[in-house]
Parts: sequence; structure tokens; C-alpha cells
Amino acid sequence: MKTYLCLAAAAVLAIATCALATPTPPMWGTWASQFELKEFNPQANNWMTTTGSYYYSPLASLVAYANASAEAFCGSTGIGAGTPCYQLANSDARFLYFPEAGDSDSGECCKCCTVEQGCGPLKPSWMADASFEGTVTAQGVTADKWLIAGNEDNYYYDISDSHIPLLLNNSGFQIFGFVPSSYTTLVPMSIFTVPDICQGSIDQCEGVCGRFGASN
Ligand SMILES: *[C@@H]1O[C@H](CO)[C@@H](O)[C@H](O)[C@H]1NC(C)=O
Ligand SMILES: *[C@@H]1O[C@H](CO)[C@@H](O)[C@H](O)[C@H]1NC(C)=O
Repeated sequence: MKTYLCLAAAAVLAIATCALATPTPPMWGTWASQFELKEFNPQANNWMTTTGSYYYSPLASLVAYANASAEAFCGSTGIGAGTPCYQLANSDARFLYFPEAGDSDSGECCKCCTVEQGCGPLKPSWMADASFEGTVTAQGVTADKWLIAGNEDNYYYDISDSHIPLLLNNSGFQIFGFVPSSYTTLVPMSIFTVPDICQGSIDQCEGVCGRFGASN
């Protein structure tokens, strides 16, 4: 009888331990995924939508938006309205590249802000201090929900077990809905090559980028 009770107590303890175990915050490796973006435009007081592709590596990131006008940094430059805008962040700066803008075949480019100004790629451990908000159903799949507290609350969801990105909700104003079927870890590093037109002394981007200071 004593043994029986003890086992029961051990079983209860084990369950309690399991219930308390939370997953460790996601670490980003190298990956790419398509996304659908919903972004709030405070000037027009409406939601804008576009699609795009997110390419991430620990050293550089490229976020390619199909429509520059539907994203605040790209749209406020006044360059390439309605055409693609690529935000390339590397160990130097963040560039905004508009492959279809302007009259030449080389597109247009401006420098948004430097790494010193806080515009480098996200660190792989950028969610290290995230708090686990539980396992939820999002976009029809079982996902881990994380809260990354900043000036405002940001939420990140990835698919439980596989850790494929599902949703990134930046302060409720910018929502990336990732497309899990497009997820891959095979990202050619050439995708992060800075286009020629972005090299050398180039213009500081107008608009939201200006908040970071026109130091270059
Ligand atoms: C681009 O986005 C803007 C802002 O939402 C929208 O007004 C415009 O119609 C879009 N253009 C294209 C080509 O989708
Ligand atoms: C994004 O987060 C905000 C709170 O910051 C919340 O009100 C909103 O419903 C969230 N949107 C989505 C699509 O999860």
C-alpha cells in the first residue's frame, strides 16, 4: 500500500513537472518563407495588404515586398509606388532597393539607416527574452505563441515541434502571415548580395527611414 501511494505521488509529480516545462524561445537559423502582409496605415486610417518573401540568415536579411506602397519604410520614400521594394539588412546598413523603379534597368536604391542606428538584421536570438504564451491554434495549426515585449507588444507564432514561422504581429500594426508550405532552409547566400546601385555613396531614404537620422 505504501509503495502504491508513493508511485501515485511520483506520477503526480511527473505530471506537474511536465505541465510546468515551457519550450525554450525560438532561435532563428537560415530560412525563407513567403508571406502575406497586413499593415495599418495611420495617415489613411486603413489596412494595406501585399505579399512578399522573407529571407533570413544570421548575417543578413532580405524582405522583398511586392508593393512598396503597402509598407511604411518603402512607401514613404516616394520611390517605386506600386512596384516591388526589397529591404536588405547586412552588417553595414539597411538598404531599400526598388528593382523596377526609375528609367534605367538598374532600378533605384537608397540607404535607410546603419547598423549603428539599429538597422542591422535581427539577431538569431532576438526572441531570447520572449515569454511563452501557450500552445494555441493559429491558421488552423497547433502553434507556440510568444510575446516579445518592446515599446509595444509583439507576438510571434511558430508551428509546434517544427518551429516553422507562422505569424509575426508587430505591435498590432504590422502582421506577417507566413505561408508554411513555402518554408525552406535552403537559402542561397547570393540573395543577400548588395546590388551595384546600392553601393558607394547613395542617398539617404526619405520618409520613415529619416527617423534614424541622415548620417550617411
Ligand atoms: C499598392 O498598395 C497601395 C496601398 O495599399 C494600393 O493603394 C495600391 O493599389 C497597390 N498597388 C498595387 C499595384 O497593388
Ligand atoms: C496583433 O496584436 C494585437 C495586440 O498587440 C491584437 O489586438 C491583434 O488582434 C493581433 N492580430 C493578430 C492577427 O493576431
